[in-house]
Amino acid sequence: MPEISATALTALPSQALRGTAAIPGDKSLSHRALMFGALAVGETRIEGLLEGEDVLNTAKAMAALGAEVERDDAGCWRVQGVGIGGLSQPEDVLDFGNSGTGVRLALGLIASQPLTVMVTGDASLRRRPMSRVTEPLTRMGATVIAREGGRLPLTLAGPRTLLPIRYRLPVPSAQVKSAILLAGLGAPGETTVIEPEATRDHTENLLRHFGAEVRVRDSAEGRLVTLRGQPELVAAPVKVPADPSSAAFPLVAALLLPGSDITLRAVGLNPLRTGLFASLLEMGAELEELDRRVEAGEWVADVRVRASRLTAVEIPAARAPSMIDEYPILAVAAAFAEGRTVMTGLKELRVKESDRLAAMAKGLAACGVVVEEGEDYLIVEGTGGPVPGGALIEADLDHRIAMAFLVLGLAAREPVTIDDAAPIDTSFPGFADLLTRLGAQLTRPEGTAAPAA
Ligand code: S3P
Repeated sequence: MPEISATALTALPSQALRGTAAIPGDKSLSHRALMFGALAVGETRIEGLLEGEDVLNTAKAMAALGAEVERDDAGCWRVQGVGIGGLSQPEDVLDFGNSGTGVRLALGLIASQPLTVMVTGDASLRRRPMSRVTEPLTRMGATVIAREGGRLPLTLAGPRTLLPIRYRLPVPSAQVKSAILLAGLGAPGETTVIEPEATRDHTENLLRHFGAEVRVRDSAEGRLVTLRGQPELVAAPVKVPADPSSAAFPLVAALLLPGSDITLRAVGLNPLRTGLFASLLEMGAELEELDRRVEAGEWVADVRVRASRLTAVEIPAARAPSMIDEYPILAVAAAFAEGRTVMTGLKELRVKESDRLAAMAKGLAACGVVVEEGEDYLIVEGTGGPVPGGALIEADLDHRIAMAFLVLGLAAREPVTIDDAAPIDTSFPGFADLLTRLGAQLTRPEGTAAPAA
């Protein structure tokens, strides 16, 4: 049984959600804006940066590597970049906390220069595989000494002369692609990453925004992304859209709570991130895009969500890269849908902040939902109405598992408690307040004190 700590949180069966909300900034773009800003010449102004722990750790790491990173009173972040090749040796170990994106992208960035840097993270990050990034970086000339199994903590030494590579991704991962491209910034000539399955292209888009030459073309091998090395990156303003992966939680809560009608403002709708929206639309969700527009090179729209009756569908494996972070909340939606939802191609879920496949199967079963967990698939038997709930769920340092089960609890027959809601701050600070303002009932379980501020 998980222990109830001061950071536990309970979702009570709630009434309709109503109103308009601004979701925090996109996590993927926030990490990249800080890192590219650090490598650019001049001052990069970032509006709407996600101020979650993951991104704040990246901001600290960029400062430790020599960039000046500041938040002004208006909430805008300013990065004085040092230029490619201008990073300096940090004085201490860089700690990326819970963030796979932070550490993996930073390893690429560090490899682009002859620096020796030690990196680590929290208990969740220390159990995640790093060799998917260190292996190609080693081929480019970096030296890596890691804990057994290629885990953190590790030390990476960038080479004097970096070799550009042509690398076919063995796993569909935007983090691995981005790490190689970031290292490629320091290499002469062209670095090419071949993606058999397209993953989010924020690195490509934002590098271009900062003046790099990045070409993308489809071929028989997959999507070819080619970067010309040693460019001059020039500071550029960045406006970060709301994170679609965070928007997914209030969005599904509104779908499940009868009578709900909410609007989420300026949600990022990069086509390589919209797999959840496509799946929910197929399931019968009433989702409406309002005022679709381009902001800083990314599609955004306000998204209106009305409570809907959902019907089960099969989610094709090919859609996984475009909704990889959304399976926990999709599995919750599936539990309330009419019929059996089949999700395949989920192997990567096993190496996220937790083993999300196992965590969802275990948690849904504890909430009275019939599930089948396979090596790389999940089948959820929907009840076509409120699920029983009434469970205590172990979040296992995983923000998205915590948020998914809190959403389930709002629409279930009995309350659901998360043993530790603190990890939610890594990606969605203010999650509980935002949902409460829309009408949800979230409370600390009886007998627990407020956590120390
Ligand atoms: C991310 C890529 C994905 C995703 C993560 C953010 C990124 O990870 O799960 O939350 O910003 O590049 P993988 O690259 O491991 O699939």
